[in-house]
Amino acid sequence: MRRAIFPGSFDPITFGHIDIIQRAAPLFDELIVAVLVNPDKHAAFSTERREELIRQVLPPLNVRVTHFDGLLMDYAAVCKAQAVVRGLRAVSDFEYEFQMAQLNRQLNPTVETLFMMTAPQFAYISSSMVRQIATLGGDISALVPAGIIPAVQAACRR
Ligand code: PNS
Repeated sequence: MRRAIFPGSFDPITFGHIDIIQRAAPLFDELIVAVLVNPDKHAAFSTERREELIRQVLPPLNVRVTHFDGLLMDYAAVCKAQAVVRGLRAVSDFEYEFQMAQLNRQLNPTVETLFMMTAPQFAYISSSMVRQIATLGGDISALVPAGIIPAVQAACRR
């Protein structure tokens, strides 16, 4: 069974995440979209809500949506995943992703980190910018699926 994890904060899921999920899922038997449970970080959505929003917008694929806490490499071992998929939007992502991949390799050399270039039309999208634009009353229809816009606006409204 070829299994990969696509981990992230997904606060909220964006067209950029969806692009990577749709392109990565066919490469594996199962892709686990894993929401990081991070009580320290200020999140607009609870873990459960972030999972719900992901399920709401994903087409039926070989994708399981779930959450994890602790180390990603520990979670990969529990799930018996051989790979972690990460999207790269721009050079600015590289340093952080490079460090994380190398540290993860040290923690568990059997799990590969695979990078996919985000499609150019989504390369400028980030969840934090989505939250900021929604908070300030801007149009987020090019950034997240229509079905979750009301939820994002409601969570971000000041
Ligand atoms: O969407 P994000 O916030 O860029 O995702 C970051 C994520 C969840 C991949 C990263 O923070 C993570 O893996 N956290 C789990 C804790 C961990 O394993 N830390 C060591 C990585 S070097």
